[in-house]
Amino acid sequence: MTETTATRPVTAPPSQPEVRTERRTAITDALVRLYAIRRLRPLVLWMLRRLEGDAYKSPTIRTIFARYWGVEIGMYTIGACFEPWVVDPKTKIGRYCSIAHGVRIINGNHPLGLKSTNAVFHNPMFGLCDDWIGDELNALEIGNDVWIGANAVILPEVTRVGHGAVIGAGAVVSKDVPDYGVVLGNPARLVKKRFSDETIAALLEERWWDQDLEDLTHRLPEFQNYLGG
Ligand SMILES: CC(C)(COP(=O)(O)OP(=O)(O)OC[C@H]1O[C@@H](n2cnc3c(N)ncnc32)[C@H](O)[C@@H]1OP(=O)(O)O)[C@@H](O)C(=O)NCCC(=O)NCCS
Repeated sequence: MTETTATRPVTAPPSQPEVRTERRTAITDALVRLYAIRRLRPLVLWMLRRLEGDAYKSPTIRTIFARYWGVEIGMYTIGACFEPWVVDPKTKIGRYCSIAHGVRIINGNHPLGLKSTNAVFHNPMFGLCDDWIGDELNALEIGNDVWIGANAVILPEVTRVGHGAVIGAGAVVSKDVPDYGVVLGNPARLVKKRFSDETIAALLEERWWDQDLEDLTHRLPEFQNYLGG
């Protein structure tokens, strides 16, 4: 045995799954960076689908939306929230939500008290002012297991949509929505709750949405039979 080989530190080669995970992370990190180049975005999204499947189970598309669009989206949430400009920055959407086509989540108003509401005067993007003039964007938190129907609009005044809530198609929501509330119309009104107070309390206590989908698949009857109460 030569001096060199004898003194070389002996490190076990990384096991195959570790290597694969590291390589995968390097690729997804690179894709997140490449998303900054607008013309590459379709390619990045296509590659991500190949690597991680549909958006509802892709961790990397969530990283992209948090970093580039200021929107946090929980795992297993599906729908239009993965389209740019649908959801304003400072929105946090929980897990297992369903966001239908045509939804718009708006967190800011143009200032009404200026001579003009036109953004060229108050948005620094147009180069006529250094800082945004008017109120900051509001933060909105959407709970877990929320269903937002087609073409619903959530206005900046809303700060919380509760867990399990339903927003009907075409609703214009201007107030917070309670846990498991169903709101309809323009302006949206609370018409009912999905379940009794006892059932809602049990669901909020259980927080089934904290579990990953793979861990819920052995409990499918709970999710595929109607709940009483
Ligand atoms: C909210 C929703 C689930 C209905 O809930 P529901 O409790 O079963 O309501 P019902 O169908 O029993 O209707 C109850 C009343 O609300 C009215 N209503 C139902 N949906 C409404 C809506 N989106 N906006 C206004 N009124 C609505 C009904 O006309 C009915 O009125 P009435 O009591 O005067 O007859 C449904 O109407 C809805 O909006 N679904 C969204 C569908 C969608 O966007 N899918 C996209 C794919 S994800």
